[in-house]
Amino acid sequence: MAALNGAASDLKSTFLKVYSVLKSELLQDPAFEFTDDSRQWVERMLDYNVPGGKLNRGLSVIDSYRLLKDGEELTEDENFHACTLGWCIEWLQAYFLVLDDIMDNSFTRRGQPCWYRMPKVGLIAVNDGILLRNHIPRVLKRHFRERPYYVDLLDLFNEVEFQTSSGQMIDLITTIEGEKDLSRYSLPLHHRIVQYKTAYYSFYLPVACALLMSGDNLDNHLDVKNILIDMGTYFQVQDDYLDCFGDTAVIGKIGTDIEDFKCSWLVVRALELSNEEQKKLLYENYGKVNPDCVAIVKALYKDLDLQGAFAEYESNSYKKLISSIEAHPSKSLQAVLKSFLGKIYKRQK
Ligand code: IPE
Ligand code: MN
Ligand code: MN
Repeated sequence: MAALNGAASDLKSTFLKVYSVLKSELLQDPAFEFTDDSRQWVERMLDYNVPGGKLNRGLSVIDSYRLLKDGEELTEDENFHACTLGWCIEWLQAYFLVLDDIMDNSFTRRGQPCWYRMPKVGLIAVNDGILLRNHIPRVLKRHFRERPYYVDLLDLFNEVEFQTSSGQMIDLITTIEGEKDLSRYSLPLHHRIVQYKTAYYSFYLPVACALLMSGDNLDNHLDVKNILIDMGTYFQVQDDYLDCFGDTAVIGKIGTDIEDFKCSWLVVRALELSNEEQKKLLYENYGKVNPDCVAIVKALYKDLDLQGAFAEYESNSYKKLISSIEAHPSKSLQAVLKSFLGKIYKRQK
């Protein structure tokens, strides 16, 4: 375990070095004439929003690429390029989160105030989100323009971004004030939301980047894509669970799903498990900012033993995922998928 941790922290420190390189390049981008003030703003914005998370998505590109090479040592160049693609995903994530926190009216992220809540930032954060998004094609052009898979890479990022923002849209329009209707909330709707808002960019994208770097055609890997989407769905159910039952100090954010009337896995399961009286409580208290209403919903979740329901869901999902992974013909892809699953199984943050 000590050796493993050592290797993992080496990987993380190499990865962070590449962050500094990419950041300096962006701060010197000749397409814009920076002043000291504008350069400082971007640097502070990047440092605040890009590197502070778990980095699972980014690190998975390198990990996956290595496993696709059957554990062979990466060259300096391969390592740098895998890290760069990993950072592009972390940039994408930062962009989505900066905007997501505004739309979800959140307070904290990664143990600090959400960017838009910082003094002097406010809704400038909207443009910062757009900037973060625009950094990705700048980085890809600089480092991948000459590669045979450059167009596929651009297309992949574009398609995944389209899917994610469409997922965000359906997540948000279910919560429209004046049209709140719990009776529309169901597992199929939940599944559709989380597949689009989370699974494509968090799970499919890192592995797809590694496959492109390996010279593979993504059309030949629809089976891998489907498994990764199931894994991403499981990951977002965990996110929904932790939003209510996680330790704020560990997850680094304060849950807002109940206040926001989100179509969370918890409320969907609660609706399924409730008797008429409990349903009435949910209808009366879900989606209200009032802390008393939130407390009533949380107490009901506990009465319905949603912790138990989640534990059961978690172990079933794990079993199903493992068996679909083991049915895959390629040993190295099995290793990629198992490694990714290992990073999230029973996570607390
Ligand atoms: C976020 O979904 C999905 C994207 C940012 C694309 P959530 O709104 O459920 O995530 P958290 O809980 O705020 O991190
Ligand atoms: Mn959110
Ligand atoms: Mn959201």
